[in-house]
Amino acid sequence: MKTTVVSPANIAFIKYWGRSDHKLFLPRNNSISMTIDGCLTTTTAEILDDLDKDIVEVQYYGRKPVKIDSKSRKSKALFEQIARIRKDSKRKEKVKIESVNNFPSDAGIAASASSFSALTAALLVVYGQHEKFENKREFSRQVRLCGSGSAVRSCYGGFVEFALNIKKNDAYARQLSDENHWDLLDIVVVVDPGKKKYSSSHGHELADTSPYFETRISEMNKRIRETKKAIKNKDLEKLGTLIEQDSTSMHAIMMTSKPPIYYWNGASMKIMQEIIRWREEDNLLSYFTLDAGPNVHVICEAKDKNKIVRRLKRIEEVQFTIVNKPSEGTRIINKHLF
Ligand code: PMV
Repeated sequence: MKTTVVSPANIAFIKYWGRSDHKLFLPRNNSISMTIDGCLTTTTAEILDDLDKDIVEVQYYGRKPVKIDSKSRKSKALFEQIARIRKDSKRKEKVKIESVNNFPSDAGIAASASSFSALTAALLVVYGQHEKFENKREFSRQVRLCGSGSAVRSCYGGFVEFALNIKKNDAYARQLSDENHWDLLDIVVVVDPGKKKYSSSHGHELADTSPYFETRISEMNKRIRETKKAIKNKDLEKLGTLIEQDSTSMHAIMMTSKPPIYYWNGASMKIMQEIIRWREEDNLLSYFTLDAGPNVHVICEAKDKNKIVRRLKRIEEVQFTIVNKPSEGTRIINKHLF
């Protein structure tokens, strides 16, 4: 049997950084994101009786397909997820997987979000656990167990919360509003499409070495509450202020961890300053947020798209932009990769 799924990336408005349990991958704080339509992973999986080991081939944006071995930290997580789902399914057969990303990976564009959610969905379906994919809360838990918290949020479309239930040792995604709720855009501004130097899994483990981490955590409940309200009321000024505060707060933790991690570069800083200037001088409402990489996500309403893209392209360091609308979450398609 062969199954193919498409899964989107998402942009975190309120970030997940730091865990309360590194084995169960429970986050320290809830996070909120928008699922985006232009950064997609397509994954085909097939169970083959005659395979003596799992085969995983990945094609990153602009590169040739490569076979993955289980040495690096992220691919270790990948092979562990295959083994876990196979065991849960009480099956023995090996699986062949091919995966394609249509955007630069590992550069703070949440490549792990789309790829781990796609992988988990394809595995659940191909190993006969379709009902765990259909039950989105359960699906999101299954995704969480591969270690990528951002991937948990890609299970749903639109605006999504990754919520922690500390009493029950549980965390899962829930949808706040669907993809038709608000014409927001996430314009990804690529200043460096290369692979990031420090993985986010490493960063999560360092987060509580920052002397400011507990201060960040103490602010989160209020920020989450206000963000939900701003999304519900489609209040961009309110939402944008919260988004920028949270991005900078997370990067402050990164930069003050021991050892520190610096994801921003000069171009990231220049774009942030330009965005603030456009708001102050021209009343052009857009807001910045950055994940674990130097590329900047610009959040604005669809009506301002052309003006903002034009201005971004005039900045020398900008290599290209990807305009994303809110999207539906992980889904099955009929066109297979092999
Ligand atoms: O999903 P992970 O474990 O790679 O962590 C993602 C962390 C950030 O992208 C920086 C923030 C977020 O909430 O997406």
